[in-house]
Amino acid sequence: MSASHTHSSQIAVSARGLTKHYGHGGSVVKALDGVDIDFSAGQFTAIMGPSGSGKSTLMHLLAGLDSASSGHAYLGDTEVTALNDDQLTMLRRDRVGFVFQSFNLLPMFTAEANIFLPLTLANKKITADDRAWLHQLAETLGLSDRLDHRPSELSGGQQQRVAIARALITKPDVIFADEPTGNLDSRSGAEVLSFLRTSVRELGRTIIMVTHDPGAAAYADRVVLLADGQIAGDIHEPTPESVLAGLDALRTYSATAV
Ligand SMILES: Nc1ncnc2c1ncn2[C@@H]1O[C@H](COP(=O)(O)OP(=O)(O)OP(=O)(O)O)[C@@H](O)[C@H]1O
Ligand SMILES: [Mg+2]
Repeated sequence: MSASHTHSSQIAVSARGLTKHYGHGGSVVKALDGVDIDFSAGQFTAIMGPSGSGKSTLMHLLAGLDSASSGHAYLGDTEVTALNDDQLTMLRRDRVGFVFQSFNLLPMFTAEANIFLPLTLANKKITADDRAWLHQLAETLGLSDRLDHRPSELSGGQQQRVAIARALITKPDVIFADEPTGNLDSRSGAEVLSFLRTSVRELGRTIIMVTHDPGAAAYADRVVLLADGQIAGDIHEPTPESVLAGLDALRTYSATAV
């Protein structure tokens, strides 16, 4: 037994001095510039900020999809930035789920085969428990009668819900979603967002989501603002209004910083 943390106070993901530099010939882009942050387990956090502020870079470093220039990233007690390639492959396979703006489904496979893909790619046998979890996910996501369809036979919102089920099938510690509603109309986007919120509230998942939409961010428990690769704001229990105000303050901050 570990120390007497309550579920909500456990830290699922954190960063200390996390930095990513990209070299362009002689010049250097500081995509991420010394980020310190903690994300609680069982919380839904949205990350917002101008284009190029480092949102995707932060998610990629935290999920072990890309390497840091310096600093540390942790998933629970595991230091992601200290893992070798084989360990990173295992971490990505077993402990994180990723949802992208473009759903990244395989067109020749059915929805069900796409959802099971993380298991089949890992050469895992699909168990009765996996099937039960698939059916619970499909039910919650409104996909039960779509599992035999291929992506081309599904709407954008349905395709993104398949991608979310795929990210959840291994019951990862954390789901990272990079603009999951960016390619969806507002109705499909709302379906996806309410499912993400449900999976935090009812299934106990931890979600970190990048979005440009203050309405989408208001589904989260917390909004973290990034500007120029640094944390520039932190809003708890956001509303569309408080998020807009935070983004406005960011613009003023950036204007005075130049
Ligand atoms: N592979 C790369 N090589 C060089 N520079 C990169 C690379 N990836 C990102 N960058 C730069 O790092 C900075 C942060 O990029 P990042 O993709 O994290 O931004 P973002 O906040 O996700 O933006 P957007 O909202 O447009 O998706 C940008 O200036 C970008 O041009
Ligand atoms: Mg991005």
